[in-house]
Amino acid sequence: MPATTNPRSDFPGAQSFLPADASTLDQLRTAAAQCQGCDLYRNATQTVFGRGAAHARVVMVGEQPGDVEDQQGLPFVGPAGHLLRRAVDDAGIQPADLYITNAVKHFSFTMRGKRRIHQTPDRAEIAACRPWLVAEFALLRPDVVVVLGATAGKALLGPSFRVTQSRGVPMPWPDSAQRPQDFPVEPAKLVATIHPSAVLRADDRESMYQGLVADLRVVASLL
Ligand code: URA
Ligand code: SF4
Repeated sequence: MPATTNPRSDFPGAQSFLPADASTLDQLRTAAAQCQGCDLYRNATQTVFGRGAAHARVVMVGEQPGDVEDQQGLPFVGPAGHLLRRAVDDAGIQPADLYITNAVKHFSFTMRGKRRIHQTPDRAEIAACRPWLVAEFALLRPDVVVVLGATAGKALLGPSFRVTQSRGVPMPWPDSAQRPQDFPVEPAKLVATIHPSAVLRADDRESMYQGLVADLRVVASLL
């Protein structure tokens, strides 16, 4: 680790770990396994890359792998993932149409006793990891992008994006002021919704769950 008072300021970012001419998601996945673009690789078990059909019409973007995902190396295979897959099914989206990934591809956590407690990735980590997301989009070219919660919203649309204000409504890719120039996904539509973990944490789980399903039905209607 370089001697510095602020290690975050010198995150190299994922860009230099990207293969120059990747033409498949597997090539990206293999390269991402070696990524040291920010400090999160140090304590996590492994890179958790996106998963799903190469010709998926819907790409869902979550926050970062959780504890179970970190151990298994696959996105959304823990409790939030089970809930999300049930909601996808209830909304009538075919799993074959789906690719699921995360804004940040290593598990960020702090230790509390022996437990690893999820820590929301910060702006520097989101920015460092973004090249992987850009590269996934460039190959997938989806019809609809589903933004799951605030971190994905920030990664895709910038820091001022508010999921609660925009959820469940098909949006065009935002105008150039907000659009990350390097996202080659136009004319994909974008639908934001809550993160499935928010349902698990809610007092009124059932109404939160129904809200998630309603937003995903909007996605299904666009296919
Ligand atoms: N939450 C996420 O945002 N992504 C996962 O892969 C699992 C839980
Ligand atoms: Fe690379 Fe992203 Fe992991 Fe950071 S979180 S090391 S940028 S893959």
